[in-house]
Amino acid sequence: MKFVPQLENVTLYVAGAPVEAVARRYGLDPQKVIKLASNESPLPPFPEVLEVITRKFNDLNRYPDSECRDLKAALAERYGVTPEELVVGNGSCELLIWLSLVMLEPGAEAVFSDPTFLVYEEATRARGARPVKAPLKDFANDLEALAAAVTGRTRIVFLTNPHNPTGSYLPYADISRFAATIPEDCLLVLDEAYNEYVEEPDSQDGLKLWRERPNVVVLRTFSKIYGLCGLRVGYGICSPEVKEAVDKVRQPFNVNMPAQAAALASLGLEERLQERRALNNAGRRQLYDGLAAMGVKYVQTQSNFMLVDVNGMSTPADNVPEELMKRGVIVRPGRTLACPGYIRVSVGTEAENSVFLEKLAGLK
Ligand SMILES: Cc1ncc(COP(=O)(O)O)c(C=O)c1O
Repeated sequence: MKFVPQLENVTLYVAGAPVEAVARRYGLDPQKVIKLASNESPLPPFPEVLEVITRKFNDLNRYPDSECRDLKAALAERYGVTPEELVVGNGSCELLIWLSLVMLEPGAEAVFSDPTFLVYEEATRARGARPVKAPLKDFANDLEALAAAVTGRTRIVFLTNPHNPTGSYLPYADISRFAATIPEDCLLVLDEAYNEYVEEPDSQDGLKLWRERPNVVVLRTFSKIYGLCGLRVGYGICSPEVKEAVDKVRQPFNVNMPAQAAALASLGLEERLQERRALNNAGRRQLYDGLAAMGVKYVQTQSNFMLVDVNGMSTPADNVPEELMKRGVIVRPGRTLACPGYIRVSVGTEAENSVFLEKLAGLK
């Protein structure tokens, strides 16, 4: 088969192992396997949302609304924007791919941190464009290094806040100064997949930045705190010009019907997110305390996951993920995230965090 030549440079995304596969591989009871590998919510969708999803099953002989009108209307009201300033995707991952499709081509460059969310590099390389990477500084995006990496060929800058895979957070005042250095015809994609977990007072200021600069796109998702990653729905707040470009390349029915309904119903339960934020916060503290008690170092996080330093344990760092898996706990190996010597662990329920800490202590 003669595939497009740029595919040769694309590295396959390695997702967190599914519970059933791990249970089968190690002869474990799937009910007892804990997945803390993919920055997912440990809690299911809200019961009201589950009800809405189930009701939609009866309508599945119809295509979903190609324009996501109801969801966009609710998002527009919430953020004080117009539906023409919104794009909705099959997860925000899909939006990253569409944005790359409309901005990148051979000869163009995309700038992002190293390490960062792996989809940026994949989407860039799939377009035959050149990834230009700036190393992190103290586990955080180094805005000066990123600004220095921007050239006349840069068409997209991808920036996560909080950052994945480290969970670090940068104040929006700094990001705003950084945004001012990006040329107007270059898109600044502010990926805020974990925004709802942030406990800083400026957490909504990415939207202010979007108002000031039409080349900013703010991406958010229902995959994380809303617990809907299995349905795939994310959205972007962008200029009408960017929305129109994305509309030209996306497939017409890209967001399925239950996903649209579930996202809409979730938006109506905003006040309940506070409980989930509090649970995540308590889980972070539980993990910090448990790791500190073990003498294991970790990176402070503003998100629902954290990097744990597994160097210097009696189990070699590279073997820790597999040893944890054998014991029924799935985490993400740092090596697959360009963070060798670390594991990335999602914040689970109190019981899940305890099992993780106990199993890790057994490898110490
Ligand atoms: C930084 C970042 N952006 C985007 C996504 C994709 O989320 P979605 O499920 O909305 O595609 C993730 C998922 O882990 C992520 O970590």
